[in-house]
Amino acid sequence: MNKLLPLLIGAIGVLLLATLMLVILPAWQMRTAEPPQRLQPYTEQQLLGRQQYVANGCIYCHSQQPRSTGQTLFDGAQGWGRASTPGDYFYDAPHLLGTMRTGPDLLNIGARMKSRDWHLTHLYQPRAIFDWSLMPSYPYMFEVKDEAAPDDVVVRLPAQFQPSGGRVVVAREEALDLVDYLLSLDRTYPASEGELQKRDRGYDHRPETTETPSNAG
Ligand code: HEC
Repeated sequence: MNKLLPLLIGAIGVLLLATLMLVILPAWQMRTAEPPQRLQPYTEQQLLGRQQYVANGCIYCHSQQPRSTGQTLFDGAQGWGRASTPGDYFYDAPHLLGTMRTGPDLLNIGARMKSRDWHLTHLYQPRAIFDWSLMPSYPYMFEVKDEAAPDDVVVRLPAQFQPSGGRVVVAREEALDLVDYLLSLDRTYPASEGELQKRDRGYDHRPETTETPSNAG
């Protein structure tokens, strides 16, 4: 019984220390006074698309955090962009860093793949683009119609994925919002030195590149 008080003090102490080291210090270290100059806030439509990204579980297969050369040479070689820095997520609340990479990193997909048509086809049916793709299709974001209305966005599909009887596939608002969000994902502007200092450099102490590697196309 007489050991209860030291035990209690010890437990509270450990909890306070952990909160300080894992919550307060990192938040203080990562607070960014200013967003990077070339980073735009999301528009209303892009924010709606971001909600679709969350609701449809894209994060379970896609990260949004290219790593530095000190951590891996892989991300740069894939053309996923320079290592991301805290400021790149200034307008992201909550952030969508993700941990799984069943598919490619998407933080710079808007710079890499700028075609709205491509994204719509890919979301409707990834196999229409890559027959080996194991990404799920999202048909409920689209509508099959007998005929497209003048303001409908028709999805381009190879013959074997077209609906029968001359009908057409058109994008619903969800798909258009989501693609607008994907196209906005572009952090290929150079990172500032100060921002790079905040990164974990792994075991590599060579100077970090501030630019997106040139093979990102
Ligand atoms: C089960 C895992 C999985 C889920 C869930 C998933 N994807 Fe994918 N995604 C992949 C794979 C694998 C690829 C690579 C093959 C391909 O392009 O189809 C990919 C590729 C992509 C690409 C092309 C990337 C590039 O660099 O060419 C985009 C864009 C994309 N996914 C967006 C999404 C969006 C948006 C969602 C949510 C609506 C989503 N994915 C959900 C696995 C997934």
